[in-house]
Amino acid sequence: MMTDPNAYYAGGLGVELYDLFTGGGLLTGDVEFYLDSARRSGGPILELGTGTGRVLIPLADAGHEVVGMDLSRLMLDRAAAKLRNRPELTSRARLVEGDMTSFDLEQRFALALVPARSYQHVVTPEGQRLALNCIRRHLIPGGHLILDLFDPNFELLFGNGSKAPPREAQHPRSGHLIRRTVVARHTDPYQQTVHEVLRFEEFDGAGNVVGSEETSWSLRWNLRQETAYLLELTGFEVIDLYSDFSGSPPDYGREQLWVARARQ
Ligand SMILES: C[S@@+](CC[C@H](N)C(=O)[O-])C[C@H]1O[C@@H](n2cnc3c(N)ncnc32)[C@H](O)[C@@H]1O
Repeated sequence: MMTDPNAYYAGGLGVELYDLFTGGGLLTGDVEFYLDSARRSGGPILELGTGTGRVLIPLADAGHEVVGMDLSRLMLDRAAAKLRNRPELTSRARLVEGDMTSFDLEQRFALALVPARSYQHVVTPEGQRLALNCIRRHLIPGGHLILDLFDPNFELLFGNGSKAPPREAQHPRSGHLIRRTVVARHTDPYQQTVHEVLRFEEFDGAGNVVGSEETSWSLRWNLRQETAYLLELTGFEVIDLYSDFSGSPPDYGREQLWVARARQ
């Protein structure tokens, strides 16, 4: 089955309400972590899979020069709309439409970030390797990469009926309750991919369903040792690996938060 791993980011409520449904849980504290890392590395900073600018805007706000790349024009449009409301940031923040597996920005960076598991939407090992090679070429010698992946929890991935609990948010314009539920999951242990179908339902004040739409995404899970080898193969030296954004040691089924340095 060949499906678009990024259908979620191609329009609809997935894009419109992205910021309301992202963050918290295992991503708690991620923006602060990136801000702290940027303070230490300095700029310029490259963010791959920048989306709506959830991470990029705070980085620019903190005074860093940031380039944000994303495959989705519509996600970038939302980031651009935020920047239009913050004209003082436009000289520091640049948005580029592009694919992290194949790009040439003719610029080198002190820090590259791939937050919120964006890298795992590249669902083939070849693509993932190409992405790391491309990122490596865009770093100054000794420049840093921070790569946030989920560590596969096999009970969740393969367990019966173990879908993530629904998430809810209030639509900013209608005030309606929006519930996002994972309604189907197909896990491919050979390709190391998980494909999820997500349904958004919109409820009016009386609790009636007044709208519904479905979307999907796919992610490829990465085993810890596989990622360590891949980083080594593509010219990185691993400095740290955490299981969350507070610096906890590596742990099964949480985040794989890699900090690596481009070898000289
Ligand atoms: C989970 S969102 C992360 C957005 C943002 N970095 C954040 O932390 O909120 C994943 C983003 O990665 C983008 N993406 C997926 N595959 C990509 C690729 N091959 N190249 C560039 N962007 C990609 C999607 O379009 C989406 O905007």
